[in-house]
Amino acid sequence: MLLLDAKGLVKSFPKAGGNLDVLRGVDFQCGSGEAVAVIGPSGAGKSTLLNLLGALDWPDAGIIHHDGRPLRRQRREMTHWRRHVVGFVFQYHFLLPDFTARENLLVPVRVVKEPSRADWQRADDLLAAMELTDRADHRPGELSGGEQQRVAVARAFMNRPRVVLADEPFGNLDRTKGSRLSDLLFALRDREQSGLVIVTHDPDLARRADRVLELTDGQLRRVT
Ligand SMILES: Nc1ncnc2c1ncn2[C@@H]1O[C@H](COP(=O)(O)OP(=O)(O)OP(=O)(O)O)[C@@H](O)[C@H]1O
Ligand SMILES: [Mg+2]
Repeated sequence: MLLLDAKGLVKSFPKAGGNLDVLRGVDFQCGSGEAVAVIGPSGAGKSTLLNLLGALDWPDAGIIHHDGRPLRRQRREMTHWRRHVVGFVFQYHFLLPDFTARENLLVPVRVVKEPSRADWQRADDLLAAMELTDRADHRPGELSGGEQQRVAVARAFMNRPRVVLADEPFGNLDRTKGSRLSDLLFALRDREQSGLVIVTHDPDLARRADRVLELTDGQLRRVT
């Protein structure tokens, strides 16, 4: 069974003098435990695609299945999808500035329930996997860019999502650092056995994926 199976996704945005057709019938699949990289020029619609796959936005046409079940345009179902089916690493980390790294990891739990002792332990465990144990009590403002992104990666796994959607997770970092952090991300996703959809400009990062897809002119096609 496919973790994610999207068919015929169409998405346009209004712009001056007409519509901007960003996705023009995109099919996308991610199998269980599979890592898929999506590359493509700036403005091609990569973040738009991730937003649809993560139920943050709704397509003009097309349908998305998870484990064979369709995502329906109902508030409860989309909320459940965002909380339990997917985990997000955004292009910008969106950590809460007044919360420590550890507390930021508990945010996705708190929207569901009061964190238990096991949840705090899981947060510490994920921070350790991202080599952040000694930074756990620091706020984002006290962390380097790479450390902030590692917290964001750890947070994406917190609710045990079936698939993590990562949008240029290390885009603002230099190559050596980015490559080191990619090691940590791939190791964590191996351990967690989740799917991974990773948008990246970095060919080295894309090469680590099981498949590479390129988004151009509103279409997705397989590169490797
Ligand atoms: N909410 C919106 N309203 C209007 N236009 C939008 C909206 N979101 C995205 N767009 C436009 O859709 C196009 C695709 O945007 P998107 O953010 O998906 O690109 P991207 O491939 O992620 O680019 P980048 O690599 O620069 O992050 C862009 O031209 C963008 O300006
Ligand atoms: Mg983007």
